[in-house]
Amino acid sequence: MKILVVGGAGYIGSHTVYELIRAGHEVVVLDNLATGRRDAVHPDARFYWGDIRNGRDITRVFDIESSAEFKNKPIEVVMHFAAKLIVPESVSQPLAYYENNVEGVRTLLEAMVDRDIKRLVFSSTAAVYGELEGGICREDDLTCPINPYGETKLACEKMIQWVSAAHDMQYCIFRYFNVAGADASLAIGLDKDNLTHIIPLVMQTALGLRDKFYIFGSDYDTPDGTCVRDYIHVTDLAQAHVLGADYLLKTSDSLIANLGSGDGYSVKQVLDAAQGLFEVPFEYAPRRPGDPARLIANTTRVHEMLGWHPQLSLTDILKSDYDFRRKLMQKEV
Ligand code: UFG
Repeated sequence: MKILVVGGAGYIGSHTVYELIRAGHEVVVLDNLATGRRDAVHPDARFYWGDIRNGRDITRVFDIESSAEFKNKPIEVVMHFAAKLIVPESVSQPLAYYENNVEGVRTLLEAMVDRDIKRLVFSSTAAVYGELEGGICREDDLTCPINPYGETKLACEKMIQWVSAAHDMQYCIFRYFNVAGADASLAIGLDKDNLTHIIPLVMQTALGLRDKFYIFGSDYDTPDGTCVRDYIHVTDLAQAHVLGADYLLKTSDSLIANLGSGDGYSVKQVLDAAQGLFEVPFEYAPRRPGDPARLIANTTRVHEMLGWHPQLSLTDILKSDYDFRRKLMQKEV
């Protein structure tokens, strides 16, 4: 099928494009390259520069792709990855998050309604849950975000559901837990300046690019006092999107599903796992604003509805990110 991947030059978007192409789909990418990279777009995908906050950038792609030049074959599914996603940044710059994340989705939905495109796969987040008792998150649990990032994604989820009801649109909303790792080819991975995520920072420390790794907070209500998260390899996550698109095409239903492993690891446990492989100096530092103590996926729904099970472990994720970063260093020499 023909799929438009909005934000397909970014980290998760580019990995999803690789998996869609491996599964035999025709892929079109729209990206403004604000954080994405043109060279991360798979060479077999068609690339359009554009900003989803500008409706005409989107309808232009819909129109070109359904024209005779492309055998009058319209886009059947849209996937949305074009969001800002750094929790502490959202706390200090909430308006930028509302503008990019919420307004971007509103404009995208308007363009889809206008051109009668009926299927959307949307990247949401575990941050919509907030601080749940025990930290295990089920899709039907109360959503009560504790940071602006989670609030903007929840607002988008609700907007999508209202638009779906009014305009007969189908959606697959995936709530991601902590995504890391790189494609097995090492052609793509999380490659950007000012990294903030735990696994790339641990690996940069292992590679000697940083003196120390700082653990943010040691007094959370968790077994070792550090925050607990559920880590998922980006390739496993991307493969779930291939299944999500098939689901939308083969059924008339919509779906909200967590994408995680179902296992929680504390920051200290991640560090210990990395130290089993590499040397990683570390120090404790104060808490970071906006961090919930625990976020762990209940994955029953995605197993049952899509038959999806992650294949790669935390050790695979750590090694994969390390290998990607080592390759980047070799390129720079
Ligand atoms: N952490 C450290 N030191 C660091 C970096 C992170 O201790 O140098 C800790 C954080 O405080 C947090 C944990 O590692 O407790 C994970 O932090 P990340 O920044 O790697 O990821 P987040 O959990 O904040 O957020 C990520 C994505 C969100 C997504 C969320 C879902 O960025 O988009 O996972 O759990 F919503």
